[in-house]
Amino acid sequence: MSCSLRPVGHAHRARLEQLTRATGLFREEEVATAVELLDASLGERGTDDYRFVGAFDRENLVGYACWGPTPGTEATWDLYWIVVDRERQGAGVGTQLLRETERRLAADGCRLVVVETSSRADYAPTRRFYEARGFTRAATISGYYAPGDDLVIYTKDLADGDLARAAP
Ligand SMILES: CC(C)(COP(=O)(O)OP(=O)(O)OC[C@H]1O[C@@H](n2cnc3c(N)ncnc32)[C@H](O)[C@@H]1OP(=O)(O)O)[C@@H](O)C(=O)NCCC(=O)NCCS
Repeated sequence: MSCSLRPVGHAHRARLEQLTRATGLFREEEVATAVELLDASLGERGTDDYRFVGAFDRENLVGYACWGPTPGTEATWDLYWIVVDRERQGAGVGTQLLRETERRLAADGCRLVVVETSSRADYAPTRRFYEARGFTRAATISGYYAPGDDLVIYTKDLADGDLARAAP
């Protein structure tokens, strides 16, 4: 299924919250953070620290990605969120979002993309997603999120021509 990729606006706030929660992966605190980042990006003083792109099936938001420059670095950017509606996962929407995000990152001169995820078993498909799309497991911090729940950091070097391998 190919979606149209468009900005995420105020009108999509509740839907973004709902589809993030519906993945069943994130703690309530994390769901709230996703919404806060959207609010920050749409606020009156509109920050460029958090950028969003949404995947839409007609008017329905079915996924989104959020990224931003990593403070204090030279051309390193964080991919903060990439989420697809549980009902639509495995149909290429995440790949489409990632490809678009990387295209925009490259246009903004990004050198290194960093993404943080969890070692939990229920994140195995997420880790496979990153690994199949050119991300390398760069570091692990044991017990970071909780006992037995490690922080896994993936990176992708956009400067080495990996962009073309963003998606099969
Ligand atoms: C990770 C995620 C964004 C991928 O999006 P997607 O639309 O399901 O991914 P695609 O259909 O483009 O690609 C599917 C690939 O991702 C992996 N994958 C991840 N979750 C999957 C799922 N629930 N169903 C099927 N494949 C999944 C598979 O390994 C598959 O690889 P393949 O194409 O080599 O077989 C999405 O599954 C998701 O929202 N997961 C929950 C939230 C999450 O973990 N976000 C990242 C942390 S912020």
